[in-house]
Amino acid sequence: MVAAVITSVALPSSKSSSSLPHRSSLASSSSFISTDKISFKKVLPQCWDAISTGTRMVSIRAQVTTEAPAKVEKETKKNEEGVVVNKFKPKNPYTGRCLLNTKITGDDAPGETWHMVFSTEGEVPYREGQSIGVIPDGIDKNGKPHKLRLYSIASSALGDFGDSKTVSLCVKRLVYTNDKGEIVKGVCSNFLCDLKPGSEVKITGPVGKEMLMPKDPNATIVMLATGTGIAPFRSFLWKMFFEKHEDYKFNGLAWLFLGVPTSSSLLYKEEFEFMKEKYPDNFRLDFAVSREQTNENGEKMYIQTRMAQYAEELWELLKKDNTFVYMCGLKGMEKGIDDIMVSLAAKDGIDWTEYKRSLKKAGQWNVEVY
Ligand SMILES: Cc1cc2nc3c(=O)[nH]c(=O)nc-3n(C[C@H](O)[C@H](O)[C@H](O)COP(=O)(O)OP(=O)(O)OC[C@H]3O[C@@H](n4cnc5c(N)ncnc54)[C@H](O)[C@@H]3O)c2cc1C
Ligand SMILES: NC(=O)c1ccc[n+]([C@@H]2O[C@H](COP(=O)([O-])OP(=O)(O)OC[C@H]3O[C@@H](n4cnc5c(N)ncnc54)[C@H](OP(=O)(O)O)[C@@H]3O)[C@@H](O)[C@H]2O)c1
Repeated sequence: MVAAVITSVALPSSKSSSSLPHRSSLASSSSFISTDKISFKKVLPQCWDAISTGTRMVSIRAQVTTEAPAKVEKETKKNEEGVVVNKFKPKNPYTGRCLLNTKITGDDAPGETWHMVFSTEGEVPYREGQSIGVIPDGIDKNGKPHKLRLYSIASSALGDFGDSKTVSLCVKRLVYTNDKGEIVKGVCSNFLCDLKPGSEVKITGPVGKEMLMPKDPNATIVMLATGTGIAPFRSFLWKMFFEKHEDYKFNGLAWLFLGVPTSSSLLYKEEFEFMKEKYPDNFRLDFAVSREQTNENGEKMYIQTRMAQYAEELWELLKKDNTFVYMCGLKGMEKGIDDIMVSLAAKDGIDWTEYKRSLKKAGQWNVEVY
């Protein structure tokens, strides 16, 4: 059972255009939604009750061994009971409405990313870490309806308005130049980024179990995101830090690494910085801004470059039974992250491929890249 407590606490004021609208602008945005079926609260459902800073319960492996620490297959550590998949199929999608759609990257960012909220009336019962499908309006070049595209859900199960009646996405507008020099716009991402409040949107799913959160409220959760791969982690972090749940009170460590090209493309920066300010013992936040930052060797600051700065610490965390790593975003990041892990594991005489396999089996290494 969950309970969202609605409070009216202001987020830190924004100086950049990459921030979500604050409560006041969220509230005023309701005025341009024409249908009277749509109603949403005038405040974000955030609960800022201080999380107890009492002793953290962590189980650390007692010894450093020269063999891969054995990972015993246990009862699932993820929150899987009652997880719904494919309630809505492409032939019979749920029709929601766009309640809010806002650009969250700065005007000088390479590319646009939008945050959008759709009404579900509670009919799309998703969990943190799942995705939904969207069927864009219109037909393809063969005259057939467009196929669905998948998007990671960016809101917690309670939704951005705390009433379990909405689902949010974080979508990058795809625009590229093809071999003939023509500018091509991705079908579904442009459909979504151009959606106006009040417009209908066809939703399928929910789908996916790979990225479900661990049940253990004392877990260490390492989140590795590039670009819009941040979506599932915003969802996790809202549940951990912005909400009150009877059966879940996070008191572990959440560590987010986010890689983006420029500081104007940092996604949800102010939300995350606010969490860090409120819960410094439970939240660590590291950005890798690839086109503005370098490491001491002058190398481009990718997410794995930033992680390498904490390599020993990360490796020690990975030896714990209640550390869960999640990776989401660009496919290329997986190899980069594997590369640093190979050398770290090798220092302890451990074969990374084998160890990763055991972590995966125990639900501790979770990857959704595309
Ligand atoms: C599980 C999952 C979750 C996802 N979550 C998200 C998310 O949260 N946010 C998000 O924004 N996206 C997400 N995606 C990606 C999303 O599903 C779409 O693929 C994306 O939005 C592009 O769809 P589109 O319809 O706009 O492009 P389409 O019209 O489908 O065009 C895409 C095609 O264009 C071509 N193409 C693309 N780039 C180039 C290029 N540079 N040069 C040449 N050809 C190119 C490729 O053939 C590609 O298949 C996710 C994907 C998966 C599988
Ligand atoms: N569940 C999922 O599977 C899921 C969910 C959400 C998004 N996605 C996918 O994630 C991708 C996110 O793209 P985006 O356009 O939103 O991101 P973006 O804003 O372009 O940011 C991506 C960042 O990753 C960097 N990068 C590039 N190659 C890398 C590599 N090999 N290793 C590590 N970092 C690398 C980029 O650096 P430079 O550009 O400077 O090189 C940039 O800083 C999309 O392809 C989307 O489809 C998947």
